[in-house]
Amino acid sequence: MSGKWQIDLDRDAFLNEFWQRKPLLIKNTRNGFTPPLSSDELAGLALEDDVESRLIEHCNGSWRLQHGPFSEADFLRDNPWTLLVQAVDHYIPEVAELQRLFDFIPRWRMDDVMVSYAVDGGGVGPHYDNYDVFLLQGEGQRLWRIGQRCDEHSPLLPHDELRILHSFDKREEYLLGPGDILYVPPGVAHWGIAQGECTTFSIGFRAPRISDLLSRWTDQLLLQITADTFYGDAGRAASTRPGELHADDVQAALAQLRSALDQAVPSQWFGELVTEPRYDVEPDEDDVAEALALLQDGARSVALSPAAKLAWQQDAQQLTVFANGESFNCAPTALPALLVLCDGRLLAGAILDTALADADTAALLTRLVNLGCLHVR
Ligand code: SIN
Ligand code: CO
Repeated sequence: MSGKWQIDLDRDAFLNEFWQRKPLLIKNTRNGFTPPLSSDELAGLALEDDVESRLIEHCNGSWRLQHGPFSEADFLRDNPWTLLVQAVDHYIPEVAELQRLFDFIPRWRMDDVMVSYAVDGGGVGPHYDNYDVFLLQGEGQRLWRIGQRCDEHSPLLPHDELRILHSFDKREEYLLGPGDILYVPPGVAHWGIAQGECTTFSIGFRAPRISDLLSRWTDQLLLQITADTFYGDAGRAASTRPGELHADDVQAALAQLRSALDQAVPSQWFGELVTEPRYDVEPDEDDVAEALALLQDGARSVALSPAAKLAWQQDAQQLTVFANGESFNCAPTALPALLVLCDGRLLAGAILDTALADADTAALLTRLVNLGCLHVR
């Protein structure tokens, strides 16, 4: 993809009217789109052991799923099939660049980029996702059908792993060519059918489950509530039936619970949760030692590793950095380097020299290297 390729999208209008609400077709009205990965390169990735891939085949009305890694022979089939490769942005920087098209939505909301290849008629079947996705057409054409709103009660075909809808009620239909994008919000049924061979880049988003938010927030709160605080019932009414657990006692417990919930809880649990990496990013000790030595002397560039999840939060008191599920305080002087890293994912030249000359920024970079977030060259 040319670095200058952009999409025609009024961001504010999109966020007001479509984001999380309605599907939108974004036509590639400008020239110059070249898919950042060919179908052959994608197939090559699916042969690798450490790349997560799946193959879905549609055969006589039933759907079959196989997990990778695959061999060339797996790609010789008579039925319509599709190959899906996860987190391609971790391996191909040009694919990671696609995420920048949607930088008006913060990075912590973004997931990895999935890329699919399908033969004529292939696809993953009618389904819905719990997350927003921009479906960018790469090579060839795909017919996308938009269907009904779905939720956890929508009937699915019986299958251990695939979540294919039992029925699909077509509301809209679009034929996408290279560079066209279909935005699909969570819970909206969609069904893409390849028209000839094609590839699709899914720039997906993620959102924490409310149950996970609650559990993290409660964990944080529990750190603040001492084990020596107890239920109290001063002024209680006399009991006439000693075995009775009176509703008033339950109400009193709930009232005391509510007042415990009312106390201010530091908010770092949120950033820690939303920057948790999906894949294992445990850094190799030798790589870390080598990167730290370079950082001390001779570093020419510092790049955010493609799998790293990095975010920051600033309030009147402090700057907090969140990296791969960890959080730590950082001096405000490190903010300029942090901005450049989060935005362009690279520090080099004079910007890197300035960053390393500041002790607080150098300390931040050291910490990020130790967390496996940075590549130093
Ligand atoms: C595909 O690329 O075929 C599937 C993407 C999706 O529906 O989310
Ligand atoms: Co989908």
